[in-house]
Amino acid sequence: MEEPKRRGVRLVLFPCPLQGHINPMLQLASILYSMGFSITMIHTHFNSPNSSNYTHFTFIPIPDGLSISDVSQHSVSEVVALLSQLNINCAVPFQDCLLRLLSSGEAETLPCLISDAMMHFTQDIADSLKLPRLVLRTSSVESFLSFAAAVSISRQKSYLPISDSQLEIPVTGVPPLLIKGINTHDQEIVYQLLRNMVDKVKASSGLIWNTFDHLEQSALATLAQEFPIPVFTIGPFHKIFTASSSSLLSQDQSCITWLDTQPPNSVIYVSFGSIVGMDEAEFMEMAWGLANSKCPFLWVVRSGLVRSSERVEPSWPDGFLEMVKGKGCIVKWAPQQDVLAHPAVGGFWTHNGWNSTLESICEGVPMLCSPNFGDQMTNARIVSHGWKVGLQLENKLERGEIERNIRRLMVEKEGKEMRERVASLKEKAEACVKKGGSSYESLEDLIARILSF
Ligand code: UDX
Repeated sequence: MEEPKRRGVRLVLFPCPLQGHINPMLQLASILYSMGFSITMIHTHFNSPNSSNYTHFTFIPIPDGLSISDVSQHSVSEVVALLSQLNINCAVPFQDCLLRLLSSGEAETLPCLISDAMMHFTQDIADSLKLPRLVLRTSSVESFLSFAAAVSISRQKSYLPISDSQLEIPVTGVPPLLIKGINTHDQEIVYQLLRNMVDKVKASSGLIWNTFDHLEQSALATLAQEFPIPVFTIGPFHKIFTASSSSLLSQDQSCITWLDTQPPNSVIYVSFGSIVGMDEAEFMEMAWGLANSKCPFLWVVRSGLVRSSERVEPSWPDGFLEMVKGKGCIVKWAPQQDVLAHPAVGGFWTHNGWNSTLESICEGVPMLCSPNFGDQMTNARIVSHGWKVGLQLENKLERGEIERNIRRLMVEKEGKEMRERVASLKEKAEACVKKGGSSYESLEDLIARILSF
């Protein structure tokens, strides 16, 4: 790629240190770099990005105060506890680092901070230093609105826990999500994190989204009413800047060679992202559901996917590996964007993390949805009931239901219709990042906003 003309302007970015957040922040950094901005990435020691893949950026690590026991991410409560702790522990080191950068006397100007919505503590620090903060929200607009609505319900009632009678309250959206869809057991700590995120987003100088207008038109209209701040929908990021070098785990390329041997649209790709875990019984149901469907599959079974007190690696059901020999390919971590772009892949069984959802849409791959927590619940609902490009597994994982739904998606007419609908979304995603497209124009607006500070 041709070296872009430098603007003499340096942007400071701060990601939330989870894979699903690091990827879009680094993609955004690459997009902004390609627009002539210099990039400094402040990051925690925990899950620090691989700086050798980005030699043109400056990376500054800060202490995060986490101990080994803090960094477990096997359940939603552990993830929320980790994020809450980071928001406390990082405040002083982050402020010190920002102060050093602001007073370093560099020739380049430093107009603003761009930080992840989940790192809400950065708003107060930016305010105290009179530095505008732009927020990157790495999920769908629809799911953000459902969080904001849930936060507002929890405030109106002015107490937690939310009672059983409130669980059927519609939160937002078309089709509406019910509050039970996003409710969790550890209500207070979750709602506190969400409240802070929503409040500090409102106080920010603008909101950047990895989405595109056509996909979330009605949610964006609601957002404009409820959050009167500038909004920049410049996604899908990976369509503007294709680098997938932000992976924290090494991607096993051998699965691409295996996919090369499979017929078009025949393989179901299975991955539940970087955080979701399951127990051994659920893992067994998944394994037999896949095997019994008789469809070829590529399955990402990362270390720690199966929660077991004794082992990190799963133990396979008796006879399973022999039964699926040649029919199934199993890896610990895949080059996901390349996998989804491969002609052999005809379906994606996903947990509906936003990156996975968007990557699937961009490659025209319909989904089987197994959301687990947080934004995944809303994402799965819009995929299956809104855009109608996927089927949602409504009950707990059970081999018969899995087998039936894989076949619905992969070989039946229903799946074919979803493939046609998602192909049309793929076209829209490709058009929006081209000159004159909505994301292209929004990126120009974002650049103008940054230069106006
Ligand atoms: C987390 C949350 O769980 C999710 O709900 C939220 O939207 C973002 O943060 P995660 O669960 O990891 O993310 O899911 P997802 O958003 O789908 O991100 C996973 C990323 O890892 C994707 O960019 C995907 O391409 C990549 N990936 C996944 C790989 O590179 N290889 C794999 O084998 C699996």
